[in-house]
Amino acid sequence: MKLTLAVSALVSLAGAQTLCDQYGYYSANGYYVNNNAWGKDAGSGSQCTYIDKALSPGIQWHTDWNWSGGQNNVKSYPYSGRTLSSKKLISQIGSMPTKAEWAYSGSNLRADVAYDIFTASDPNHDTSSGDYELMIWLAKKGDVQPIGSSTGTVNVAGRNWDLWVGYNGAMKVFSFVAPQEIATFESDVKPFFTHITNTQGFPASSQHLITFQFGTEPFTGNNARFNVWYWYGEVN
Ligand SMILES: *[C@@H]1O[C@H](CO)[C@@H](O)[C@H](O)[C@H]1NC(C)=O
Repeated sequence: MKLTLAVSALVSLAGAQTLCDQYGYYSANGYYVNNNAWGKDAGSGSQCTYIDKALSPGIQWHTDWNWSGGQNNVKSYPYSGRTLSSKKLISQIGSMPTKAEWAYSGSNLRADVAYDIFTASDPNHDTSSGDYELMIWLAKKGDVQPIGSSTGTVNVAGRNWDLWVGYNGAMKVFSFVAPQEIATFESDVKPFFTHITNTQGFPASSQHLITFQFGTEPFTGNNARFNVWYWYGEVN
């Protein structure tokens, strides 16, 4: 009896480190990881995500994928997220320090590497969308582009970005796109919110931070490996 219990405990621990189900999920030490393959039916392929190391603070993980077909459809969004103990108003947040170190390999890659951050007036809003979405694209592989259209170059947090604005249904999306890939990004995310508050009418005093995530959105490619050597995010 004891032996059976010990063996099944080991198996379930191993299962928690490798996520191949459509929404395979892991959570520990203030971080979570989702193999999220929400758009897989727009094409064909497969994807698995691996938790490599829980750090303190932060997490190391990677994802392997092949996706084809549905050229202009996002197939998935494997990501890591920071568990939020309380849903603060953006205006009450002092800083959002973060660091991402990553590398991509594979062929014919069409994907972004991006932060994905949702806000909502309702702190209990479903976390798969929001009233507003803030994206920070550290890389753009191939001919993919954000939602909406470019409003031109802006300087935020010491770097230039191409700021895209548009709508995904009712959700307003702001995407800051790096003109050159940033493989090691260490920054504060709060200035991005300050920028859209000051220039784009973002209502910081009535929107709550409901997610703080970093990952990749694959469209198509072969034998892809997205390695996140380190990801850390904090909300102060
Ligand atoms: C992707 O395709 C390659 C070549 O067929 C294969 O070796 C690899 O296991 C595939 N990876 C996934 C995650 O499907």
